[in-house]
Amino acid sequence: MDHYNLIDGELHVEDVPLARIAEAVGTPVYVYSAATFQRHARAFRDGLAAIPRKHLAFAVKANPNLAVLRLLANEGFGADVVSGGELARALAAGMAAKDVVFSGVGKTRAELDQALQVGIGQFNLELEEEGVVLSQLAVARGVRAPATIRVNPDVDAGTHEKISTGRAENKFGLPIDEALAIFGRLAPLPGLELRGVALHIGSQLQSLAPLERAFERVGRLVADLRAAGHTITHVDLGGGLGVRYRAGDTPPSPAEFGDMVARVTRDWDVELMFEPGRVISANAGVLLTEVLWVKPGPVNPWVIVDSAMNDLARVALYDAWHDFEAVRPSGEKMTANVAGPVCESSDVFAKGREIDVVKSGDLAILRSAGAYGATMASTYNSRPLVPEVLASGDRFEIVAGRISAEAIMAEEHVPDWLK
Ligand code: LLP
Repeated sequence: MDHYNLIDGELHVEDVPLARIAEAVGTPVYVYSAATFQRHARAFRDGLAAIPRKHLAFAVKANPNLAVLRLLANEGFGADVVSGGELARALAAGMAAKDVVFSGVGKTRAELDQALQVGIGQFNLELEEEGVVLSQLAVARGVRAPATIRVNPDVDAGTHEKISTGRAENKFGLPIDEALAIFGRLAPLPGLELRGVALHIGSQLQSLAPLERAFERVGRLVADLRAAGHTITHVDLGGGLGVRYRAGDTPPSPAEFGDMVARVTRDWDVELMFEPGRVISANAGVLLTEVLWVKPGPVNPWVIVDSAMNDLARVALYDAWHDFEAVRPSGEKMTANVAGPVCESSDVFAKGREIDVVKSGDLAILRSAGAYGATMASTYNSRPLVPEVLASGDRFEIVAGRISAEAIMAEEHVPDWLK
Protein backbone atom coordinates (compact mmCIF):
# COMPACT_ATOMS: atom_id res chain seq x y z
CA MET A 1 0.00 0.00 0.00
CA ASP A 2 1.27 3.44 -0.88
CA HIS A 3 -0.06 6.97 -1.07
CA TYR A 4 0.27 7.68 -4.79
CA ASN A 5 -3.24 7.87 -6.16
CA LEU A 6 -5.28 9.37 -8.97
CA ILE A 7 -7.51 12.15 -7.67
CA ASP A 8 -9.73 13.77 -10.33
CA GLY A 9 -7.69 12.12 -13.05
CA GLU A 10 -4.37 13.39 -11.78
CA LEU A 11 -1.66 11.52 -9.85
CA HIS A 12 -1.09 12.83 -6.35
CA VAL A 13 1.40 12.05 -3.63
CA GLU A 14 -0.80 12.04 -0.56
CA ASP A 15 -2.84 15.25 -1.11
CA VAL A 16 -0.30 17.00 -3.32
CA PRO A 17 -0.68 16.95 -7.12
CA LEU A 18 2.63 15.74 -8.57
CA ALA A 19 2.32 18.45 -11.20
CA ARG A 20 2.61 21.05 -8.44
CA ILE A 21 5.94 19.57 -7.33
CA ALA A 22 7.21 19.47 -10.92
CA GLU A 23 6.29 23.12 -11.33
CA ALA A 24 7.98 24.18 -8.10
CA VAL A 25 11.12 22.03 -8.24
CA GLY A 26 11.49 21.00 -11.87
CA THR A 27 12.14 17.49 -13.15
CA PRO A 28 13.57 14.94 -12.75
CA VAL A 29 12.90 14.79 -9.03
CA TYR A 30 12.46 12.00 -6.51
CA VAL A 31 9.23 12.35 -4.55
CA TYR A 32 8.65 10.56 -1.24
CA SER A 33 5.51 10.06 0.80
CA ALA A 34 5.94 10.40 4.56
CA ALA A 35 2.74 8.48 5.26
CA THR A 36 3.96 5.56 3.14
CA PHE A 37 7.28 5.34 5.00
CA GLN A 38 5.35 5.40 8.27
CA ARG A 39 2.91 2.79 7.11
CA HIS A 40 5.67 0.41 6.01
CA ALA A 41 7.71 1.01 9.18
CA ARG A 42 4.68 0.20 11.32
CA ALA A 43 3.68 -2.82 9.22
CA PHE A 44 7.19 -4.23 9.60
CA ARG A 45 7.16 -3.71 13.34
CA ASP A 46 3.62 -5.10 13.67
CA GLY A 47 4.69 -8.18 11.72
CA LEU A 48 7.26 -8.84 14.43
CA ALA A 49 4.86 -8.27 17.31
CA ALA A 50 5.41 -11.82 18.57
CA ILE A 51 9.18 -11.27 18.94
CA PRO A 52 9.78 -10.18 22.54
CA ARG A 53 13.22 -8.57 22.20
CA LYS A 54 14.09 -6.89 18.92
CA HIS A 55 16.03 -4.05 17.37
CA LEU A 56 15.05 -2.52 14.03
CA ALA A 57 17.86 -0.92 12.05
CA PHE A 58 16.92 0.68 8.73
CA ALA A 59 19.48 -0.15 6.03
CA VAL A 60 20.65 3.39 5.32
CA LYS A 61 22.03 2.44 1.91
CA ALA A 62 18.46 2.04 0.63
CA ASN A 63 17.59 5.68 1.27
CA PRO A 64 20.09 7.82 3.19
CA ASN A 65 18.21 11.11 2.91
CA LEU A 66 18.41 12.88 6.29
CA ALA A 67 14.69 13.65 6.40
CA VAL A 68 13.86 10.01 5.68
CA LEU A 69 16.24 8.83 8.40
CA ARG A 70 14.71 11.30 10.84
CA LEU A 71 11.22 10.11 10.00
CA LEU A 72 12.28 6.51 10.64
CA ALA A 73 14.11 7.48 13.85
CA ASN A 74 10.79 8.97 14.97
CA GLU A 75 9.26 5.53 14.27
CA GLY A 76 11.80 3.94 16.61
CA PHE A 77 14.25 2.71 13.99
CA GLY A 78 18.00 2.70 14.38
CA ALA A 79 20.37 2.34 11.44
CA ASP A 80 22.36 -0.33 9.65
CA VAL A 81 25.33 1.49 8.13
CA VAL A 82 28.14 0.36 5.85
CA SER A 83 30.46 3.37 5.84
CA GLY A 84 31.64 6.29 7.91
CA GLY A 85 29.49 8.51 5.72
CA GLU A 86 26.34 6.53 6.52
CA LEU A 87 27.25 6.56 10.21
CA ALA A 88 27.60 10.34 10.12
CA ARG A 89 24.19 10.59 8.43
CA ALA A 90 22.46 8.39 10.98
CA LEU A 91 23.83 10.53 13.79
CA ALA A 92 23.05 13.79 11.96
CA ALA A 93 19.47 12.59 11.52
CA GLY A 94 19.15 12.23 15.27
CA MET A 95 19.64 8.50 15.71
CA ALA A 96 21.42 7.39 18.87
CA ALA A 97 24.86 5.83 18.32
CA LYS A 98 23.83 2.81 20.38
CA ASP A 99 21.07 2.12 17.83
CA VAL A 100 23.56 1.87 14.97
CA VAL A 101 24.86 -1.42 13.57
CA PHE A 102 27.94 -1.34 11.33
CA SER A 103 27.92 -3.92 8.52
CA GLY A 104 30.15 -4.25 5.48
CA VAL A 105 33.02 -6.29 4.12
CA GLY A 106 35.47 -3.41 3.75
CA LYS A 107 35.35 -1.19 6.82
CA THR A 108 38.52 0.88 7.02
CA ARG A 109 40.52 1.14 10.22
CA ALA A 110 39.57 4.83 10.36
CA GLU A 111 35.89 3.93 10.07
CA LEU A 112 36.15 1.31 12.81
CA ASP A 113 37.81 3.87 15.05
CA GLN A 114 35.22 6.55 14.20
CA ALA A 115 32.47 4.11 15.17
CA LEU A 116 34.23 3.23 18.43
CA GLN A 117 34.65 6.89 19.23
CA VAL A 118 30.93 7.60 18.97
CA GLY A 119 30.02 4.32 20.68
CA ILE A 120 27.86 2.50 18.15
CA GLY A 121 25.69 -0.40 19.25
CA GLN A 122 27.22 -3.25 17.25
CA PHE A 123 29.92 -4.19 14.75
CA ASN A 124 29.15 -7.08 12.40
CA LEU A 125 32.57 -8.58 11.66
CA GLU A 126 33.23 -10.02 8.22
CA LEU A 127 36.63 -11.64 8.76
CA GLU A 128 38.83 -12.74 11.63
CA GLU A 129 41.48 -10.09 11.09
CA GLU A 130 38.87 -7.35 11.30
CA GLY A 131 38.01 -8.62 14.79
CA VAL A 132 41.68 -8.56 15.82
CA VAL A 133 42.11 -4.99 14.57
CA LEU A 134 38.84 -3.83 16.14
CA SER A 135 39.94 -5.27 19.47
CA GLN A 136 43.26 -3.41 19.29
CA LEU A 137 41.53 -0.14 18.44
CA ALA A 138 39.03 -0.64 21.28
CA VAL A 139 41.77 -1.42 23.81
CA ALA A 140 43.57 1.77 22.75
CA ARG A 141 40.39 3.67 23.54
CA GLY A 142 39.80 1.79 26.78
CA VAL A 143 36.49 0.31 25.62
CA ARG A 144 35.06 -3.04 24.50
CA ALA A 145 33.36 -3.20 21.13
CA PRO A 146 29.99 -5.01 21.00
CA ALA A 147 30.29 -7.33 18.02
CA THR A 148 28.89 -10.29 16.13
CA ILE A 149 30.43 -12.37 13.41
CA ARG A 150 28.60 -12.30 10.11
CA VAL A 151 28.33 -15.76 8.68
CA ASN A 152 27.75 -16.83 5.12
CA PRO A 153 25.19 -19.63 5.36
CA ASP A 154 25.71 -20.75 1.74
CA VAL A 155 22.07 -20.41 0.75
CA ASP A 156 20.82 -19.35 -2.66
CA ALA A 157 18.48 -16.43 -2.05
CA GLY A 158 16.83 -16.96 -5.45
CA THR A 159 17.18 -13.31 -6.40
CA HIS A 160 19.18 -11.40 -9.01
CA GLU A 161 22.81 -12.52 -9.05
CA LYS A 162 24.10 -9.00 -8.40
CA ILE A 163 22.11 -8.66 -5.17
CA SER A 164 22.76 -12.16 -3.77
CA THR A 165 25.11 -12.20 -0.80
CA GLY A 166 24.66 -15.50 1.03
CA ARG A 167 26.25 -18.08 -1.25
CA ALA A 168 29.68 -19.46 -0.47
CA GLU A 169 31.19 -17.81 -3.55
CA ASN A 170 30.01 -14.32 -2.50
CA LYS A 171 32.47 -12.02 -0.76
CA PHE A 172 30.28 -11.58 2.33
CA GLY A 173 30.49 -13.24 5.74
CA LEU A 174 32.58 -16.00 7.26
CA PRO A 175 32.03 -19.57 6.04
CA ILE A 176 29.47 -20.93 8.46
CA ASP A 177 31.41 -24.15 9.05
CA GLU A 178 34.45 -22.14 10.22
CA ALA A 179 32.40 -19.81 12.40
CA LEU A 180 32.69 -21.86 15.60
CA ALA A 181 36.49 -21.90 15.45
CA ILE A 182 36.80 -18.22 14.50
CA PHE A 183 34.36 -17.18 17.22
CA GLY A 184 36.44 -19.21 19.69
CA ARG A 185 39.61 -17.35 18.73
CA LEU A 186 38.02 -13.87 18.74
CA ALA A 187 35.90 -14.19 21.91
CA PRO A 188 38.83 -13.93 24.39
CA LEU A 189 40.21 -10.72 22.82
CA PRO A 190 40.19 -7.95 25.42
CA GLY A 191 38.66 -5.26 23.18
CA LEU A 192 35.69 -7.32 21.99
CA GLU A 193 32.38 -8.13 23.57
CA LEU A 194 31.58 -10.86 21.09
CA ARG A 195 27.91 -11.55 21.62
CA GLY A 196 26.27 -13.09 18.60
CA VAL A 197 25.91 -13.86 14.95
CA ALA A 198 24.72 -11.87 11.93
CA LEU A 199 23.69 -12.80 8.40
CA HIS A 200 22.20 -11.23 5.28
CA ILE A 201 21.67 -13.45 2.26
CA GLY A 202 20.44 -11.05 -0.38
CA SER A 203 17.90 -8.47 -1.39
CA GLN A 204 14.48 -8.39 -3.12
CA LEU A 205 13.67 -11.91 -1.88
CA GLN A 206 10.36 -13.14 -3.23
CA SER A 207 10.18 -16.23 -1.05
CA LEU A 208 10.70 -16.96 2.63
CA ALA A 209 12.18 -20.41 1.99
CA PRO A 210 15.84 -19.37 1.58
CA LEU A 211 15.62 -17.08 4.61
CA GLU A 212 14.15 -19.88 6.68
CA ARG A 213 16.88 -22.29 5.58
CA ALA A 214 19.56 -19.71 6.44
CA PHE A 215 17.99 -18.91 9.82
CA GLU A 216 17.84 -22.61 10.69
CA ARG A 217 21.56 -22.94 9.97
CA VAL A 218 22.26 -19.96 12.19
CA GLY A 219 20.08 -21.49 14.92
CA ARG A 220 22.25 -24.62 14.85
CA LEU A 221 25.37 -22.45 15.03
CA VAL A 222 24.00 -20.58 18.05
CA ALA A 223 23.42 -23.93 19.79
CA ASP A 224 26.95 -25.06 18.92
CA LEU A 225 28.46 -21.79 20.18
CA ARG A 226 26.59 -22.12 23.46
CA ALA A 227 27.64 -25.75 23.79
CA ALA A 228 31.23 -24.50 23.45
CA GLY A 229 30.66 -22.18 26.38
CA HIS A 230 30.02 -18.88 24.60
CA THR A 231 27.36 -16.42 25.69
CA ILE A 232 25.10 -15.54 22.75
CA THR A 233 22.68 -12.68 23.34
CA HIS A 234 22.14 -11.19 19.86
CA VAL A 235 21.36 -12.50 16.37
CA ASP A 236 21.11 -10.07 13.46
CA LEU A 237 18.88 -11.50 10.73
CA GLY A 238 19.74 -8.79 8.16
CA GLY A 239 17.32 -7.44 5.57
CA GLY A 240 16.24 -8.68 2.18
CA LEU A 241 12.45 -8.82 2.17
CA GLY A 242 11.25 -8.14 -1.36
CA VAL A 243 8.59 -5.73 -2.54
CA ARG A 244 6.10 -5.59 -5.40
CA TYR A 245 7.57 -3.79 -8.39
CA ARG A 246 5.12 -5.09 -11.00
CA ALA A 247 1.80 -6.84 -11.25
CA GLY A 248 2.37 -10.50 -10.47
CA ASP A 249 5.14 -9.96 -7.92
CA THR A 250 4.06 -11.67 -4.71
CA PRO A 251 6.64 -10.89 -2.04
CA PRO A 252 6.03 -12.27 1.44
CA SER A 253 4.24 -9.81 3.69
CA PRO A 254 5.90 -8.53 6.87
CA ALA A 255 3.28 -10.54 8.78
CA GLU A 256 4.24 -13.79 7.01
CA PHE A 257 7.90 -12.97 7.57
CA GLY A 258 7.22 -12.32 11.24
CA ASP A 259 5.37 -15.63 11.63
CA MET A 260 8.27 -17.52 10.08
CA VAL A 261 10.84 -15.71 12.25
CA ALA A 262 8.83 -16.34 15.40
CA ARG A 263 8.55 -20.04 14.57
CA VAL A 264 12.21 -20.60 13.62
CA THR A 265 13.70 -18.56 16.47
CA ARG A 266 11.25 -19.70 19.18
CA ASP A 267 13.93 -21.23 21.40
CA TRP A 268 16.84 -18.93 20.64
CA ASP A 269 16.47 -16.65 23.68
CA VAL A 270 18.30 -13.71 22.09
CA GLU A 271 17.58 -10.15 21.05
CA LEU A 272 16.78 -10.34 17.33
CA MET A 273 18.00 -7.57 15.07
CA PHE A 274 16.64 -6.68 11.63
CA GLU A 275 18.07 -4.54 8.82
CA PRO A 276 15.19 -3.84 6.42
CA GLY A 277 15.79 -1.35 3.63
CA ARG A 278 13.74 -1.90 0.50
CA VAL A 279 10.57 -3.12 2.22
CA ILE A 280 10.35 0.15 4.15
CA SER A 281 11.30 2.56 1.40
CA ALA A 282 10.89 1.28 -2.17
CA ASN A 283 7.21 1.98 -2.66
CA ALA A 284 7.37 5.21 -0.65
CA GLY A 285 9.09 6.98 -3.55
CA VAL A 286 8.67 7.72 -7.25
CA LEU A 287 10.89 9.38 -9.80
CA LEU A 288 8.91 12.22 -11.37
CA THR A 289 9.99 12.96 -14.91
CA GLU A 290 8.94 14.90 -18.01
CA VAL A 291 8.55 13.47 -21.47
CA LEU A 292 10.99 15.30 -23.74
CA TRP A 293 10.24 13.66 -27.05
CA VAL A 294 8.34 10.83 -28.57
CA LYS A 295 10.66 9.57 -31.26
CA PRO A 296 9.38 7.17 -33.90
CA GLY A 297 11.17 3.82 -33.90
CA PRO A 298 11.31 0.87 -36.29
CA VAL A 299 9.38 -1.37 -33.89
CA ASN A 300 7.98 0.85 -31.15
CA PRO A 301 8.19 4.59 -30.51
CA TRP A 302 10.83 5.79 -28.07
CA VAL A 303 9.47 7.88 -25.21
CA ILE A 304 12.51 9.94 -24.22
CA VAL A 305 12.16 11.26 -20.67
CA ASP A 306 14.32 13.73 -18.81
CA SER A 307 15.46 11.20 -16.18
CA ALA A 308 18.11 8.66 -17.01
CA MET A 309 20.21 5.76 -15.78
CA ASN A 310 22.35 8.21 -13.82
CA ASP A 311 19.26 9.18 -11.78
CA LEU A 312 17.83 5.65 -11.44
CA ALA A 313 20.46 2.99 -12.12
CA ARG A 314 18.45 -0.10 -11.18
CA VAL A 315 17.12 -0.91 -14.63
CA ALA A 316 20.51 -0.71 -16.33
CA LEU A 317 22.21 -2.61 -13.49
CA TYR A 318 19.75 -5.36 -12.61
CA ASP A 319 17.21 -5.38 -15.45
CA ALA A 320 14.80 -4.15 -12.80
CA TRP A 321 11.19 -3.27 -13.52
CA HIS A 322 9.71 0.10 -12.54
CA ASP A 323 6.14 0.86 -13.53
CA PHE A 324 5.83 3.88 -15.83
CA GLU A 325 2.65 5.94 -15.52
CA ALA A 326 1.43 9.25 -16.86
CA VAL A 327 0.62 11.86 -14.21
CA ARG A 328 -2.55 12.78 -16.15
CA PRO A 329 -3.49 9.51 -17.90
CA SER A 330 -6.05 9.76 -20.70
CA GLY A 331 -6.99 6.12 -20.31
CA GLU A 332 -5.49 5.27 -23.71
CA LYS A 333 -2.50 2.97 -24.01
CA MET A 334 0.35 2.52 -26.46
CA THR A 335 3.25 0.11 -26.82
CA ALA A 336 6.53 1.95 -26.50
CA ASN A 337 10.09 1.99 -25.19
CA VAL A 338 10.94 4.45 -22.43
CA ALA A 339 14.49 5.78 -22.33
CA GLY A 340 16.60 8.57 -20.89
CA PRO A 341 18.97 11.00 -22.60
CA VAL A 342 22.25 9.34 -21.51
CA CYS A 343 24.48 8.12 -24.31
CA GLU A 344 24.34 4.41 -23.52
CA SER A 345 22.10 1.76 -24.96
CA SER A 346 21.47 0.53 -21.42
CA ASP A 347 19.76 3.82 -20.56
CA VAL A 348 16.35 2.28 -21.18
CA PHE A 349 13.64 2.07 -18.53
CA ALA A 350 11.16 -0.06 -20.47
CA LYS A 351 11.12 -1.96 -23.75
CA GLY A 352 8.05 -2.83 -25.78
CA ARG A 353 5.82 -2.07 -22.83
CA GLU A 354 2.17 -1.11 -22.84
CA ILE A 355 2.11 2.32 -21.22
CA ASP A 356 -0.19 5.31 -20.90
CA VAL A 357 -0.21 7.42 -24.04
CA VAL A 358 2.16 10.36 -23.48
CA LYS A 359 3.47 13.22 -25.59
CA SER A 360 6.20 15.87 -25.27
CA GLY A 361 5.77 17.97 -22.14
CA ASP A 362 3.68 15.40 -20.25
CA LEU A 363 4.68 14.39 -16.75
CA ALA A 364 5.16 10.75 -15.80
CA ILE A 365 6.50 8.68 -12.94
CA LEU A 366 8.70 5.66 -12.49
CA ARG A 367 7.29 3.91 -9.46
CA SER A 368 8.93 2.10 -6.56
CA ALA A 369 11.97 4.36 -6.62
CA GLY A 370 12.25 5.09 -2.89
CA ALA A 371 14.90 2.40 -2.34
CA TYR A 372 18.25 2.34 -4.14
CA GLY A 373 17.12 5.28 -6.28
CA ALA A 374 18.52 8.71 -5.44
CA THR A 375 21.24 7.08 -3.36
CA MET A 376 22.71 5.38 -6.43
CA ALA A 377 22.44 8.47 -8.63
CA SER A 378 25.48 9.94 -10.30
CA THR A 379 26.26 12.94 -12.48
CA TYR A 380 27.25 10.87 -15.52
CA ASN A 381 27.02 12.86 -18.75
CA SER A 382 27.49 15.94 -16.51
CA ARG A 383 23.85 15.84 -15.55
CA PRO A 384 22.85 17.58 -12.30
CA LEU A 385 22.42 15.38 -9.23
CA VAL A 386 18.70 14.67 -8.92
CA PRO A 387 16.85 16.41 -6.03
CA GLU A 388 14.45 14.85 -3.50
CA VAL A 389 11.12 16.07 -2.14
CA LEU A 390 9.20 14.76 0.86
CA ALA A 391 5.42 15.17 0.91
CA SER A 392 3.12 14.80 3.88
CA GLY A 393 -0.60 15.45 3.65
CA ASP A 394 -1.04 18.62 1.62
CA ARG A 395 2.50 19.96 2.03
CA PHE A 396 5.85 19.13 0.49
CA GLU A 397 9.40 20.23 1.00
CA ILE A 398 12.70 19.88 -0.87
CA VAL A 399 14.81 17.57 1.31
CA ALA A 400 17.78 17.41 -1.06
CA GLY A 401 18.50 20.12 -3.58
CA ARG A 402 19.50 19.68 -7.18
CA ILE A 403 23.29 19.86 -7.38
CA SER A 404 24.16 21.58 -10.62
CA ALA A 405 26.76 20.49 -13.13
CA GLU A 406 28.47 23.85 -12.45
CA ALA A 407 28.72 23.14 -8.70
CA ILE A 408 30.40 19.82 -9.45
CA MET A 409 32.70 21.45 -11.98
CA ALA A 410 33.71 23.97 -9.33
CA GLU A 411 35.42 21.11 -7.44
CA GLU A 412 37.63 20.41 -10.44
CA HIS A 413 40.88 22.06 -11.30
CA VAL A 414 43.13 22.37 -14.33
CA PRO A 415 46.83 22.28 -13.33
CA ASP A 416 48.87 25.36 -14.23
CA TRP A 417 51.27 23.18 -16.20
CA LEU A 418 48.52 22.44 -18.70
CA LYS A 419 47.77 26.07 -19.33
N1 LLP B 1 21.83 -5.53 5.52
C1 LLP B 1 22.91 -5.73 4.75
C2 LLP B 1 24.15 -6.22 5.36
C3 LLP B 1 22.84 -5.47 3.36
O1 LLP B 1 23.90 -5.68 2.60
C4 LLP B 1 21.63 -4.99 2.80
C5 LLP B 1 21.53 -4.69 1.37
C6 LLP B 1 20.53 -4.77 3.66
C7 LLP B 1 20.66 -5.08 5.01
C8 LLP B 1 19.21 -4.26 3.18
O2 LLP B 1 18.61 -5.13 2.28
P1 LLP B 1 17.11 -4.88 1.79
O3 LLP B 1 16.20 -5.05 2.98
O4 LLP B 1 17.02 -3.51 1.25
O5 LLP B 1 16.90 -5.91 0.76
N2 LLP B 1 21.16 -1.81 -5.07
C9 LLP B 1 20.42 -3.06 -5.09
C10 LLP B 1 20.25 -3.62 -3.68
C11 LLP B 1 21.54 -3.85 -2.94
C12 LLP B 1 21.33 -4.38 -1.56
C13 LLP B 1 22.61 -4.42 -0.81
N3 LLP B 1 22.50 -4.84 0.55
C14 LLP B 1 19.09 -2.83 -5.77
O6 LLP B 1 18.81 -1.71 -6.19
O7 LLP B 1 18.30 -3.77 -5.92
